[in-house]
Amino acid sequence: MTAPALARFKAEGRKIVTVTAYDYPFARLFDQVGVDVLLVGDSLGMVVQGQETPLPVTLDEMIYHARMVARAARRALVVMDLPFGAAQISPEQTMAAAVRAMQESGCGAVKLEGGAVMAETIAFLTARGIPVVAHVGLTPQSVRAFGGFKVQGRGAAASQRVLDDALAVAQAGASAIVLEGIPAALGARITAEAGCPTIGIGAGAQCDGQVLVMHDLLGLYDGVRPKFVKQYLNGGQLVSNAITQFADEVRSGAFPSAEHAFKGE
Ligand code: KIV
Ligand code: NA
Repeated sequence: MTAPALARFKAEGRKIVTVTAYDYPFARLFDQVGVDVLLVGDSLGMVVQGQETPLPVTLDEMIYHARMVARAARRALVVMDLPFGAAQISPEQTMAAAVRAMQESGCGAVKLEGGAVMAETIAFLTARGIPVVAHVGLTPQSVRAFGGFKVQGRGAAASQRVLDDALAVAQAGASAIVLEGIPAALGARITAEAGCPTIGIGAGAQCDGQVLVMHDLLGLYDGVRPKFVKQYLNGGQLVSNAITQFADEVRSGAFPSAEHAFKGE
């Protein structure tokens, strides 16, 4: 998978399957079953680091995780989030962060949040050979400005703003746009009008692709669970059962049995 392949998927009506990943073992499993895009999201801050928002995540931390994911990816496109602060100051600063991301992690594209305000930066990076995935709607790095993780683009004015943001980043050369936390009808309209592929999370069924955070999908996170999450596995329960059984067997002496012990003097 490459960044330009995303446009081909849209043209062919083939859905873009995207899952977040933060380390080698999960990235390897997702790549092997044919996930198209592995997104190293700054959701890292919440689902891996246990913080309440993604705001504290640093560029060094993102690169560390993206490197593990890129090492596992044989086929999938690896996209790394530029964390809060790494893309907000100037196109030049963003370029420097994106170069570090690509050189040090091996990711194939970077993602940054923001609409029209980021268009200049997106054009700057794409003109210099860096594929950029944009992210509009409920952009979690703006959680403080939104006053919480709240659906965006409801009502005529807000809806027009999100549409304008999506059109601006598409025009600037974004390889794809993540649409998060917006009404399904708005997701459908952007997907029809933007010209570049859309990857939705809480943006309805008409998007060109869908993304979920792996811990939400697998039931490994018991923090906030937004309405758009579908849980496909009760991973937390499975892991609890296994560790409880291990603990019981250690305490009873049932583990290790002879088959797990070395023979001889
Ligand atoms: O950080 C993340 O995981 C994301 C996706 C939810 C789109 O940005
Ligand atoms: Na993110």
